[in-house]
Amino acid sequence: MSFDLASGETLALIGHSGCGKTTTLKMLNRLIEPDEGEVRLGGLNAHDMPAHEWRRRIGFVIQSAGLFPHRTVRENVLVTPRLLGWADARQERKLRELLSMVGLPAETYAERYPAALSGGERQRVGLARALAGEPDIILMDEPFAALDPLTRTGLIDDIARLKSELGFASVLVTHDFAEALRLGDRVAVMDGGRIIQKGAPAELIASPANDTVRDLLAAPRQLAETVGKAFGDQGG
Ligand SMILES: Nc1ncnc2c1ncn2[C@@H]1O[C@H](COP(=O)(O)OP(=O)(O)O)[C@@H](O)[C@H]1O
Ligand SMILES: [Mg+2]
Repeated sequence: MSFDLASGETLALIGHSGCGKTTTLKMLNRLIEPDEGEVRLGGLNAHDMPAHEWRRRIGFVIQSAGLFPHRTVRENVLVTPRLLGWADARQERKLRELLSMVGLPAETYAERYPAALSGGERQRVGLARALAGEPDIILMDEPFAALDPLTRTGLIDDIARLKSELGFASVLVTHDFAEALRLGDRVAVMDGGRIIQKGAPAELIASPANDTVRDLLAAPRQLAETVGKAFGDQGG
């Protein structure tokens, strides 16, 4: 596969389970080293620097939030700023700014442990943590998968707002085309470890490359129709 990402752009990577979405993100983040090919950011080649240094330039949000359970929200969010050796005052400013941006005021949430948060709150802390080191790119691996629909919509709106305020580029992995549409400037459809089509959402809708793309595009519409029918049957 080959793709690029403009600054501030969001690429939605969509495909059925097992097609290689998580593997792709892990290669971007150097949790997996590719056998061939390269990953570049601006003029830098990922493989010219130590992996831990590369990773600090990239924020990673995983499905289950992946917070350290024995660390407070404050400690979780400030992992990267600490590694970067920021002064205490700068860390504190960043903590307050980010927690307020994700709707979790520091006064209430900073000293809590993950066990005392809801799924949506944990995912918001995961997002704040990914943003804390002021990365150029945010990688999000099905960040909404474990959330109920209302919480999901709230978080999608928050990410859209943060994107326009902070201007980071992002790769959003999802198997839901509706989510891809909400946040993606461009969409890349994966199947069997390859990108089979990429383009603006409207291009994919207008001319899907094959049945796999057509199926992925149809899923949210079918769901809407099924739900509509259920309501219809009840006479509502
Ligand atoms: N560490 C690994 N070693 C070998 N195969 C793996 C590893 N991780 C994932 N895979 C395989 O690679 C394929 C793609 O997995 P993954 O990237 O997790 O898919 P997706 O995120 O799209 O559901 C799957 O067939 C999976 O079993
Ligand atoms: Mg995955």
